[in-house]
Amino acid sequence: MAEKQRRLVVVSNRVGPLKDEGKAGGLAVGLADALRRRGGLWFGWSGETSEDGTDSPEQTEIYDHTAMTTIDMTEEELDGFYLGYANRSLWPLLHYRLDLAEFDDQSDRIYRRVNRRFAERLSALVDDEDLVWIHDYHFFYFGDELRRCGFKGRIGFFLHIPFCPPEVFSALPSSHDLVKAMLAYDVIGFQTETDRRNFCAFCVHELGGEELDGGRVRVGDRTTIAAAIPIGIDAEGFARFALSAEAVEHEEMVRDISRHRHQIVGVDRMDYSKGLVQRMKGFERLLENHPGERGNVQFLQVAPLSRSELNAYAELRDELEQLAGRINGRFARLDWTPIQIMTRGFTRRALAGIYRAARVCMVTPLRDGMNLVAKEYVAAQNPDDPGVLILSRFAGARAELEDALIVNPFSTDEIAEALETALTMPLEERQRRWERMRERVFTGTAEAWCNEFLDLLESVPDAA
Ligand code: ADP
Ligand code: F6P
Repeated sequence: MAEKQRRLVVVSNRVGPLKDEGKAGGLAVGLADALRRRGGLWFGWSGETSEDGTDSPEQTEIYDHTAMTTIDMTEEELDGFYLGYANRSLWPLLHYRLDLAEFDDQSDRIYRRVNRRFAERLSALVDDEDLVWIHDYHFFYFGDELRRCGFKGRIGFFLHIPFCPPEVFSALPSSHDLVKAMLAYDVIGFQTETDRRNFCAFCVHELGGEELDGGRVRVGDRTTIAAAIPIGIDAEGFARFALSAEAVEHEEMVRDISRHRHQIVGVDRMDYSKGLVQRMKGFERLLENHPGERGNVQFLQVAPLSRSELNAYAELRDELEQLAGRINGRFARLDWTPIQIMTRGFTRRALAGIYRAARVCMVTPLRDGMNLVAKEYVAAQNPDDPGVLILSRFAGARAELEDALIVNPFSTDEIAEALETALTMPLEERQRRWERMRERVFTGTAEAWCNEFLDLLESVPDAA
């Protein structure tokens, strides 16, 4: 008789949506794709604050066969946990931006407290037969806390963002505590081999641990499996979106506003890791060095606002708007505005149409865990006339999408020349490159990612 499938319990800071609601963020998109198939429980933050977080209302909603249980945070928790430790300390640090990272003991304490509180709340909702899968840098201590509550089942963790080299990570005052706590996970998944290597190097060089066979790493009496398992998208679903009425309407709208000029597009949360300033300067250099392109190309940057409460993000917005204004002022003609920035969200169908209308998509982060936009752009293309992907060598997706035009996002000249190559690339070469990328995106899907991770997690014995 076939074994009964264990219930999947997913934990992440942001929960949902499972529907096409036009919210930005790779994690929610990847997990929604996975959960829609397998079902289970999705647990996390409600996105709301309430006065007393310990009594914060717990809400459960059911979509398809997935229950979503969320709890509130207090204002203090939101500030110390989310805005503080997660996004002022960990996010910049893990993206190799020690210059932007800020550390303070208070937010460290609150971060651990929130991990504990959420783990305690979840422990009442699970039993040892469940497969618990924790996600991302908000919850490094979650597994350790869940074990303290007595949970003996399997716990996996997936880091959606990069893991920086130990020389950088060790600047975090609590780096040793944090990585030791991570060793409570049975399996830790990373987006790339580089991230996995950096994590293992930290365990070995900073904590005196050792690497064992089978991807295992041991520190003291704790052993975990560290694996590189790149996340993907629901490629077929996204390709279908690109043919929907809403997509076609948006595709036509973009073609209309660009008046059949070549359209270049960028789609990113407004985040300093995405290389938006460097990208815009690269576009400016294209117009400087290739006067023939003036009036012939249009650059649309879709950049939904993100974490605007933090200075680094608010400053980025000002800088980008000024830069776009300066470039437009310098090159615009009565009938042509080179750059358009939009901060609104789009439904995924609408985005698919925008991607399809674009001859070139620029995905040029200075550092990125994976970057799902790169994969979505590939999935949305028209096989008869596919566009060209320009991809940063520092995006996790680079490991799988070598047939993109690979650039160093810090080099203005490289971006400008890649743009010119993309804009003048013959159809046969565009098709050749796209076919190979398509193959990869349609094989390495969200479902394959989820199955590979969960198969690995199911293969480890339960905690004693
Ligand atoms: P990150 O997780 O850092 O935000 P990713 O590229 O991996 O970066 O994922 C971003 C996700 O958010 C993609 O699925 C993308 O389609 C979605 N997204 C980006 N911009 C928008 C927008 N304006 N409206 C709706 N979804 C968006
Ligand atoms: O994938 C990275 C990530 O931080 C996710 O964890 C998150 O959902 C997304 O980007 C958007 O960020 P935020 O949740 O801070 O709005």
